[in-house]
Amino acid sequence: MSVVTTSEPVIRPAVPGDLAAVAEINAHYVTHTVATFDETPRTLADWRRWLADLGGHGLPFLVADLAGDVAGYAYAGPWRPKPAYRYTVEDTIYVAPGHVGRRLGTALLGALVTASAEAGMRRMVAVIADSGDDRSAALHRRFGFTEAGRLTRVGFKHGRWIDTLLMQRSLSG
Ligand SMILES: CC(C)(COP(=O)(O)OP(=O)(O)OC[C@H]1O[C@@H](n2cnc3c(N)ncnc32)[C@H](O)[C@@H]1OP(=O)(O)O)[C@@H](O)C(=O)NCCC(=O)NCCS
Repeated sequence: MSVVTTSEPVIRPAVPGDLAAVAEINAHYVTHTVATFDETPRTLADWRRWLADLGGHGLPFLVADLAGDVAGYAYAGPWRPKPAYRYTVEDTIYVAPGHVGRRLGTALLGALVTASAEAGMRRMVAVIADSGDDRSAALHRRFGFTEAGRLTRVGFKHGRWIDTLLMQRSLSG
């Protein structure tokens, strides 16, 4: 994970060779933040299974490639397993800590929205942990997500209770 680069990011589908970098980015946020409610980083085998599962559903898993380094990732996973939810996805988006604030999140979310619509999905939901940092909600708002509710004190991590903000947008129709 390099920190300084002037290259333009390329947003492209993830391949198995990207997953060690994806795992490293994820492990940072799992270990040091409440942005995700996971408490144990996923293994490389977990990530391989997840990439294959999403591919099996025809759903996008994208990376931001900066001159060959994976500097962020985003995917659209099934919102819930029950079949009537089949056209609704939940987005997940993480940028490597050394690269936040450089529009990679913007590039990833834009591409994810497009790819999810192309995959036939109709609604996208974001579940955003209220860590006190508005960056993720602001990013989603800029892409037309509206607030759909707040679940109060549903997470307990690093010794404190955390709310989640639900946001959603249409992908078509
Ligand atoms: C949230 C995240 C994906 C955003 O990606 P990013 O590459 O940092 O964001 P971008 O550079 O594309 O966009 C930053 C925008 O937010 C704005 N911003 C920066 N810090 C902000 C803050 N604290 N509050 C509100 N807006 C903020 C910037 O001004 C910029 O807006 P602009 O493009 O209109 O100038 C990234 O910061 C991240 O991975 N954070 C930690 C993990 C996380 O919270 N993931 C989301 C889980 S739902």
